[in-house]
Amino acid sequence: MDRKEFLSQVGLGAASVLIPICMGGLSSCKKIGVTPNTDFIIDISTGALAKNGGFLVSNGVLIARTNSGTFIAVSAACTHQGTNVNYNASGNNFICPNHGARFDSNGNVIQGPASASLTKFNSTLSGSSLHVFA
Ligand code: FES
Repeated sequence: MDRKEFLSQVGLGAASVLIPICMGGLSSCKKIGVTPNTDFIIDISTGALAKNGGFLVSNGVLIARTNSGTFIAVSAACTHQGTNVNYNASGNNFICPNHGARFDSNGNVIQGPASASLTKFNSTLSGSSLHVFA
């Protein structure tokens, strides 16, 4: 077997291993837990963050305003299969609508099937500008 023949067979072998992993469509190939953009400022004077208990997703980060008026920022994508989680103000936790995983206010798993925590980010409020950063 010459070099060209060898590389051709190795390349075909590698492709045959990789292709089935992504055969379920592009969504099955996405990366879970990719670090979102975590240095941005958001206006909290209007919209979901203007009232206690509201939340929104921006730049891959879920920002929640708790019932006591503080802000929490965590990675929005569930660590199980990537569905965006929701903020549950009454429990001050995060719930994935896909398979029911729950995360506490620090992003730690409190109920599976997710096994990895959400990433928690810092936030500082200046007037109506909330700075979210890693
Ligand atoms: S995608 Fe969140 S629990 Fe499955």
